[in-house]
Amino acid sequence: SKGLQVAIDGPASAGKSTVAKLVAKKFNYIYCDTGAMYRAVTLAVLNQGIDLKDNAKIAEVARQVKISFEPGETEQRVFLNGQEVTHDIRLPKVAKNVSAIAAVPAVREEMTKQQREIAANGGIVMDGRDIGTTVLPDAPVKIFMVASAYERARRRYVENKAKGIETTSLEELQKAIELRDKKDSTRKVSPLTQARDAVKLDTTNLTIDEVVDEISEIIKKHE
Ligand code: C5P
Repeated sequence: SKGLQVAIDGPASAGKSTVAKLVAKKFNYIYCDTGAMYRAVTLAVLNQGIDLKDNAKIAEVARQVKISFEPGETEQRVFLNGQEVTHDIRLPKVAKNVSAIAAVPAVREEMTKQQREIAANGGIVMDGRDIGTTVLPDAPVKIFMVASAYERARRRYVENKAKGIETTSLEELQKAIELRDKKDSTRKVSPLTQARDAVKLDTTNLTIDEVVDEISEIIKKHE
């Protein structure tokens, strides 16, 4: 068999992508960062100067853009219409607007369709907000990863510092994270919520390796 579908959901900066990448590597599965897809659509909308209230135009962008991934040396590279946007999709202006774009029903419909195609053959670790509830409701392995808002902000702060980005204070980061969680959890279409059959993993006091090991054990039980 080509492997299972593994869904990893949770709030912003809970460590989903770090852990998802390592789990994918360990099992030789594909990794798909669905947040990067919503970020890429957001970047396209911003670049085209589209009114953020014009849902029809935003939906058109979501249907027309071509988002693709390529393996990179340290991180997965993201392309928007053939142009690399790996770094640009992490800009604060994108982070600030992505939750609004991701709340547009037609945007979600299009992304969900593409994500199901990517995951169709199994052997995939997909992370996001609605993978276990909406995109892959039949995935045999579903993880809901959480950590305290303070711990998530602290990790992001340390990460930014290591990358040489140091414009946002820890307090500001925590506020921005909490605001994005609120928007993602309260939207009408597929809000961030734990699937009934998901395993909740609180990573506040766990190391990356411990989280990877826990998920690996769950995968092995289902393989
Ligand atoms: O995972 P990341 O923090 O990069 O996701 C950015 C944003 O994309 C989230 O805050 C959310 O608004 C949106 N998103 C979503 N559904 C997903 C993944 C991300 O709505 N499956």
